[in-house]
Amino acid sequence: MSASSKIKLRANEADLFADVVPIESRLKPVTAITSFVPAKKVTSVCTFIDLFSGMGGTRVGFELACAESNVAARCVFSSDIKAHAIAAYQYNFGHAEKVHGDITAIPVDSLPNFDYLLAGFPCQPFSAAGKRKGFLDERGGLFFAILSILRQKKPQGFLLENVEGLATHDKGQTLQHILVELEKLGYQVTWKILDAAEFGVPQQRRRIYITGHLKNKIELDNFATHRASVAQIVEHDAPVVQTKLTKLLAEKFKPEQMYGKAIKDKRGGGNNIHSWDLELKGAVTEAQRELLTLLLKQRRYKKWAAQKGITWMDGMPLTLDEISTFFQHPALKNLLDDLTDKGYLTFEHPRELVSKNGITSREAALHVPKGYNIVAGKLSFPIAKILDPKGIAPTLVATEYGKIALSLEAGVRKLTVREGLRLSGYPESYKLDNLSYRDAFDLIGNTVMPPVIKAIAKRLIA
Ligand SMILES: C[S@@+](CC[C@H](N)C(=O)[O-])C[C@H]1O[C@@H](n2cnc3c(N)ncnc32)[C@H](O)[C@@H]1O
Repeated sequence: MSASSKIKLRANEADLFADVVPIESRLKPVTAITSFVPAKKVTSVCTFIDLFSGMGGTRVGFELACAESNVAARCVFSSDIKAHAIAAYQYNFGHAEKVHGDITAIPVDSLPNFDYLLAGFPCQPFSAAGKRKGFLDERGGLFFAILSILRQKKPQGFLLENVEGLATHDKGQTLQHILVELEKLGYQVTWKILDAAEFGVPQQRRRIYITGHLKNKIELDNFATHRASVAQIVEHDAPVVQTKLTKLLAEKFKPEQMYGKAIKDKRGGGNNIHSWDLELKGAVTEAQRELLTLLLKQRRYKKWAAQKGITWMDGMPLTLDEISTFFQHPALKNLLDDLTDKGYLTFEHPRELVSKNGITSREAALHVPKGYNIVAGKLSFPIAKILDPKGIAPTLVATEYGKIALSLEAGVRKLTVREGLRLSGYPESYKLDNLSYRDAFDLIGNTVMPPVIKAIAKRLIA
């Protein structure tokens, strides 16, 4: 059993924390969107471990909560396996800080005692984007690493974070299993899905938070709501680097016409800017633009699959005859061939569902005539989405982060790393300037949102 969570600090115990750099000297209260208030006086102390520590978002949030509650918090163990996460962690929390590696390879009895366990454990097995294999997946097994640490160390409390999909995975069975296992250890367990957008972070990010405490039930309702907008995170002096795409966007649209728009050739909708709106691959006439807009919609209709005798697919190539039923033009073939030459369209067979050895895939149906189809690679443009300054960002994942942009008077540019950090609620003094843009956004795309952790942690340590 570890020391109790809140010990009155006696004179000689102050030495215990003498080597701890006060967090207020590392994390300065200069941010607009997180209200970091350093501890004015220390009335108690607590220790914690930071598992799956990543870039340290959980630790930042927990330390901020402790500082506001006049608690001196000391991290006694952290662990991650990603080199650039460890580099970021040490850059911000001190190079003397050892980040231990694979948690499954560390014997629990080699861990120091501690009061709180924090873990934003890897989410892929439960996320909609993952394969939804879940609990039995090797990474799902990481939960069992957390469980055995809790079993042997019996800290005062814990805070776990994961993707929203954990709540519905396997019809809720997975979460039930997790809750029961935690309760069996003697914890009062609560959970809730919370959206970071309600905690002053201008990003919609719904995550499940699970708390446990040996004595108290931690309420996860009725948090004070704070809202922020994308306009508040803009770094106004960041340089605008012009590319072919950003130049074209500025030529064709006013800054406000681009707010909230996605740049993609998939699906229609007024919320998309298409490559042909920008004439990105070459000149497009008004008739061709109209044709492409119609084709984008028509190619999704079920009736074409029925006519072709194939299983419906979202985005079928349509033949000249089929297209001429909804778009009449004396030079239709020329319009289509010109768009194909320029790379807006492909001329291809539809693809049919084929099952081989229990695996189903799509293969070209060579017996069905070729047709014209929109070239629509996923994430095919260097900019995927332009944020609306009046709104909040959608949930940003690591793969998309480098493709998110802002439309400003000075032009369109990608998010800076600082803006990425602000979109996740990090204090201004947190820095990632030791990493490449790509590595920084890989971490930001996977991080917890410190303001949410802070709000929950304040209740956990109270
Ligand atoms: C969702 S991220 C956690 C993000 C972190 N809470 C933050 O705020 O940045 C999960 C982390 O778990 C780490 N991880 C995965 N398997 C691990 C293992 N076996 N041992 C330790 N860390 C692991 C990954 O490298 C990744 O950084």
